[in-house]
Amino acid sequence: MSGARTAVTRLALGLAALGALASGAACSSDPSQPRYEYVPEMIDSVAYESFTANPYLPGGRTMQPPQPGTVARGQQVLHYGPGPEEAARAGRELVLPPAIAADKGVAARGEHLFQTFCFPCHGRGGEGDGPVIPKFPTPPSLLAAHARGLPDGQLFHIISRGQGLMPSHAAQVGWNDRWKIIMYVRSLQGGGAAAPAPEVVPAAPPAGDGGLGVGLDEPGAADGGDAGVQP
Ligand code: HEC
Repeated sequence: MSGARTAVTRLALGLAALGALASGAACSSDPSQPRYEYVPEMIDSVAYESFTANPYLPGGRTMQPPQPGTVARGQQVLHYGPGPEEAARAGRELVLPPAIAADKGVAARGEHLFQTFCFPCHGRGGEGDGPVIPKFPTPPSLLAAHARGLPDGQLFHIISRGQGLMPSHAAQVGWNDRWKIIMYVRSLQGGGAAAPAPEVVPAAPPAGDGGLGVGLDEPGAADGGDAGVQP
């Protein structure tokens, strides 16, 4: 009796082993099945998280600063320092990009931006009578002959770098949006052709150097937003 039972057990074990072999062979022929991996850390090395300490990289941190002078894709760099001379040079060299001038949505966008960022000081119509005046020194009217005579590029410089007591608006207003504000200012002025640039720009340059065209343009604008046309 016990001998028969042992034989049955052996037979069952043998069949099981055969089955295991067969299924093993089936597995190894199926490329969709994962194989065994030994020391997986050597196959997929452990990644450092961006904001973690890192003993292998300069400064002991994983995320490294960009090289000096690096320009991100779509980033616009203003190659004009602060001050009247640079403002005048911008006035000679920078022109309103035709793609922005041709954009149908410009008028509404320019008005919205002007009435958001410039209105507090310059007033609804640009006459220098905004709600913070006279607590803040009164700016010259944008409808006066002097402002009419400033070339577009100089207006761009004034918005980007500021002028005298007027602070830079580079952080608030994107590159292309500045041109749209300029077009709106021109429409306030009655759309007349600009006279030649005056020689003298009043007041001293603002303190500090804002550096770049950093504000964000309207997302999804027809001109491509921040990655728009470089003048
Ligand atoms: C905080 C108040 C303030 C805000 C906001 C402001 N400005 Fe001014 N702006 C001034 C003052 C003050 C001056 C005169 C600066 C000087 O030369 O001393 C000025 C000067 C100007 C001039 C030169 C005018 C001329 O005849 O010389 C222009 C152009 C101008 N601003 C446009 C703008 C635009 C466009 C905006 C909005 C993006 C704006 N400003 C926002 C206060 C402001």
